[in-house]
Amino acid sequence: MKIIKVKDYKELSNMVSEIIIKEIRKKPNLTIGFATGKSPLGAYKNLIREHKKGKVDFSRIKTFNLDEYYPINADDKKSYRAYMFNNIFNKINIKKDNINLLDGTAKNFKKECEDYEDKIKKNPIDLQIVGIGVNGHIGFNEPGSTIVSRTRLVDLASETIKRNKYLGKALTMGISTILKSKRIILLASGKEKARAVRDFIIGDIDKNIPASFLRKSKNLIVIIDKEAGSLL
Ligand code: GLP
Repeated sequence: MKIIKVKDYKELSNMVSEIIIKEIRKKPNLTIGFATGKSPLGAYKNLIREHKKGKVDFSRIKTFNLDEYYPINADDKKSYRAYMFNNIFNKINIKKDNINLLDGTAKNFKKECEDYEDKIKKNPIDLQIVGIGVNGHIGFNEPGSTIVSRTRLVDLASETIKRNKYLGKALTMGISTILKSKRIILLASGKEKARAVRDFIIGDIDKNIPASFLRKSKNLIVIIDKEAGSLL
């Protein structure tokens, strides 16, 4: 695990977008695992800006998103599908066919999850971006999730229901799914993440802190700002 400490959210976002751009230049058909939430938003803004300047071409990349609420209507603004299209996909030259999202409207959630696993197996993720929840979750792998977990339907922890203001379940890549990524970048910014960051980095590798399982990855980069790293 490589830990990079930066000053603030701006520096964190710059570092993440620079890594993504560098990797796309090396491999134009890079498969990226994207995350939602506040943590990657600054990096997405940078990617859009650099794309507008003609500095990066997304036409050959493929993407997989970590998670989605379930069930959720196709036109629900809260959906992670809406988040991705509004915050990045509609603003870069990505091909719609290369976008993979868990479908929160799928009737057969089991099949949806199995198909997603299969697709990832066929298109291994080169670079997976993940945020961390205040309770140490990654994607929607809440405390109690195991290292062998695969893409599945999960119950949300009560603090997640409160914070995300969503009363329902979710579909999420499992921890084993995420760990198959060739490289993982975990981002954390702000004081509210300090405890989760401390616990996942220096605590035991344990299902109570699902992010701790990422330490099993051979290529994990953790980028944290001063506040998120304040308890280390
Ligand atoms: C959410 C999502 C995660 C996200 C995390 C942190 O509930 N399921 O994918 O990484 O919580 O969100 P944020 O970056 O807004 O703090």
